[in-house]
Amino acid sequence: MTVKEQLDACCAFVSARIDFKPEIALILGSGLGGFAEKIDVKQTLDYKDIPNFPVSTVWGHAGRLVFGYCDGVPVAVMQGRVHMYEGYTPQEAVLPVRLLHQLGAKVLFLTNAAGGIQHGMKAGEFMLITDQISSFVPSPLRGENIDALGVRFPDMSEIYSKRLQKIIRKVAVNADIPLKEGVYVQTAGPAYESPAEIRMFRLLGADAVGMSTAIEAIAARHCGMEICGISCISNLAAGISPHPLSHEEVKEAADKAAPQFERLVRQSIAEIHSVL
Ligand code: HPA
Repeated sequence: MTVKEQLDACCAFVSARIDFKPEIALILGSGLGGFAEKIDVKQTLDYKDIPNFPVSTVWGHAGRLVFGYCDGVPVAVMQGRVHMYEGYTPQEAVLPVRLLHQLGAKVLFLTNAAGGIQHGMKAGEFMLITDQISSFVPSPLRGENIDALGVRFPDMSEIYSKRLQKIIRKVAVNADIPLKEGVYVQTAGPAYESPAEIRMFRLLGADAVGMSTAIEAIAARHCGMEICGISCISNLAAGISPHPLSHEEVKEAADKAAPQFERLVRQSIAEIHSVL
């Protein structure tokens, strides 16, 4: 089956079961999945029941697609995502993004847990993603182009929408939530980085590092979605952190930051919706 055929089968299955048009789609990262339970849930689908849908195997990543209203705004929320390190190709890993687009979502709100590289960052802080480096992972657009979604050589000069960034900055100020900003770099994982790699990423202009998001953003831009993203800095990156990294630490920090994160996301969704 081609990637397009996989997507079509997946869309047909979901459309036959879900009578809901999301305007904003949200992908929840490690430890941040609780947000999906805070919305007015209308319908849910388990990833494992959706044909061709990649299923996460990582602890801390629930696998559900949730449709409902966030303060009246129709949203689709991915409670958990899959990562390339689970063995999926980048094309497989972005199928959910393309599905969300086909269901009608105009905006993709990306969230993740990430390691902090920028000087002065602290675990538990948030970073507004202003740009990204995806050069260390293969492109999700590799292979035959899906012309129905977008062009062969899509422009990536404004992956993260400037107007959405402005909205989120304002929301953070008004809600008194400190918000750093910077460039997200995606690695293939699953191993955390070495200190030398982190020094390299810093030299290259990266402020936070993670194992998701950049390929999703590329797929979403390819099909014309408007994107915004927030990283929860769950730990300081290797060599900056005084102790070895662990998934437990990442999850714990994200859990702790969750209430503030939920406030930031909820208010941002309302403000973003008002300009759509
Ligand atoms: N590196 C890569 N991915 C991550 C990290 C990190 O330090 N923290 C959370 N996700």
